[in-house]
Amino acid sequence: MATPPLDRWQQLVTAIREADHQYYVLDAPTLDDANYDALRRELLSLEAQWPELVTPDSPTQRVGVAPAAGFAPVTHGAPMLSLSNAMDEGELREFDQRVRRLLELGPDDGPVEYLGELKIDGLGVSLLYEDGLLVRGATRGDGTTGEDVTSNLRTLRSVPLRLRGDQPWPRRIEVRGEVYLGKREFARLNARREERGEPLFANPRNAAAGSLRQLDPSLTAERRLDFLAYTAGLVDGLSWDSQKEYLVWLAAAGFRVSRETARLTGPDGAVAYQSRWASERHALPYDIDGVVIKVNRFDQQRQLGELSRSPRWAVAFKLPAEQVETTVLEIEASVGRTGAVTPTAILQPVFVAGTTVSRASLHNQDEVDRKDVRLGDVVILQKAGDIIPEIVRVLPERRTGDPHRWRLPERCPACATPLVRPAGEAIWRCPNQRGCSAQLQARLEHFVSRAAMDIDGVGEALLAQLIQAELVSDPADLYHLRLDDLLPLDRMGQRAAERALVEIKASRWPPLARLIYALGIRHVGETAAREIAQRYGTLEALRQTTAEQLLEVRDIGQATADSLLAWFADEANAALLDKLLAAGVEPLAVEVPQDDRFAGQTFVFTGALARWTRDAAAAEVRQRGGTVAGSVSRKTTYLVAGEATGSKLDKARSLGVTVLSEHEFATLLGS
Ligand code: IVH
Repeated sequence: MATPPLDRWQQLVTAIREADHQYYVLDAPTLDDANYDALRRELLSLEAQWPELVTPDSPTQRVGVAPAAGFAPVTHGAPMLSLSNAMDEGELREFDQRVRRLLELGPDDGPVEYLGELKIDGLGVSLLYEDGLLVRGATRGDGTTGEDVTSNLRTLRSVPLRLRGDQPWPRRIEVRGEVYLGKREFARLNARREERGEPLFANPRNAAAGSLRQLDPSLTAERRLDFLAYTAGLVDGLSWDSQKEYLVWLAAAGFRVSRETARLTGPDGAVAYQSRWASERHALPYDIDGVVIKVNRFDQQRQLGELSRSPRWAVAFKLPAEQVETTVLEIEASVGRTGAVTPTAILQPVFVAGTTVSRASLHNQDEVDRKDVRLGDVVILQKAGDIIPEIVRVLPERRTGDPHRWRLPERCPACATPLVRPAGEAIWRCPNQRGCSAQLQARLEHFVSRAAMDIDGVGEALLAQLIQAELVSDPADLYHLRLDDLLPLDRMGQRAAERALVEIKASRWPPLARLIYALGIRHVGETAAREIAQRYGTLEALRQTTAEQLLEVRDIGQATADSLLAWFADEANAALLDKLLAAGVEPLAVEVPQDDRFAGQTFVFTGALARWTRDAAAAEVRQRGGTVAGSVSRKTTYLVAGEATGSKLDKARSLGVTVLSEHEFATLLGS
């Protein structure tokens, strides 16, 4: 074999690492997606060809392998402390007094210098670097012992796998900070869970914690968690004079650090900093629940020392959770497109956390019961994760409205069909899928929505009228509407009617993914629809799929596959599809990329793999044009060896067949 192209490998690694740093740490992308992908692909194929080039800090090594059995315990080099709280200005001033007393500062010594930082609502983790290389990442746990979540933390692009620059690196350092989920990402995650009928995360903190503790690192990778560094645990071989200086070092070493830190003079500075962020918190891309006030100088920090649970040199200065009072005007039972009937509180409009809120979902009957929300109640409202309006509790002492508990109606509010509650679910549903006007309305709204067929001129009100007038009974009917149908409708002038028709007509050639999404198949959200379109290319191919093929598609699990197959198997749905096609709807075919990287290569598997079943691993190989054989021979290209040893391994060695670990196999797949 030729010598491995080490120079090119090094160039690619440096370029990708730099691009990741610019994008994920500095928020200033330097490469466009296409160029970035090209670099990654080239690196992956180099490393597949020359596995000896792969190092643990190569950018390809961000997809880890699931630990075999849960997360191992990790003892932190130095305990991970927590912070004591100051709930108001008075308590903050007491903190400052205590600091002055312990530092033996007199009235003439001037104010203490503090550093103000934001207190992100995520979860603390500790990253251990040895000679510049990330060797372990752990959760806080009880402060002394946490859990080893290295594989998951490696998937965060804002966690450097190697410290940057050629400054002297400490021999060992525990870099500590917060793993968190931004507000947008939190909203996106919950929207997706709602779509799939999964329970919602109450706030970004829970979502981040749940994401980091996934046993499958590829699930963590999907969640787009961020890491922000702010303190150190054990440090061996380097020191700094102040917190500020340490943060500057962290940034140079490649970590994301807060841009909102500020040097503060005495308690007045701290109070001003806190009130500034109390009013500006909503503009931040992540949720904060306070600010952290730290004595800046490290010599003073050492002098102050720490208590068993928290340092004496820092305090969390809480922000008042923004909660407001409002009144429940009505509780609406709304019927979704799958027939789910969900209670929504209609509120006296009120301004909270940056926007005016007039509705809050109550999710289901259990939730209404737990909070005992009644008509006319005065309630406390806040935003979960600073975004989603949520009724925290009612003020029963101020109850003057309905003396009765609220109950979901027994019949569908739209079609009067008795509601049913499938065993094990919290949601009541209207089973009248074909005849219920509310379900039809919701299905049509979904069909025309921006992410689906994107029919701009057709809104909620028009759809309601069209249903009422019995002009449409399914999405395909939209394409048969004529000017004469629309003109007699309320508030429908010539121009609006013409525009609606043009928009409808223009929607007939959607990208395949949008049409799949528009069909409103349960569990098939935008992401899944995109993956499916990518995989099948045409609607015809998709209509003929099998469960096995569906399960090979990224992002498609058993529930989604079942739901898709059931949808296509239903005659009424098949008729709807045919009707859409007959009306001229013609999704744009997607060119399915023919991946034949493994053409001519034969794989054999031995031993258990942690991440794949044998079938799934074989499917990955076949998808790339490779062959899978049951036993090792001279024709075998690779033996992928899982947890076991045995005769296949011996045979491969004697024949000189390349043996791949599961990790190397994963790298080869480039997943
Ligand atoms: S300093 C020994 N700085 O808040 C110092 N913590 O309630 C302890 N946190 O466990 C950490 N932002 O997870 C520090 N800028 C910040 C922080 C921060 C969030 C979290 C951290 C800690 C918890 C303490």
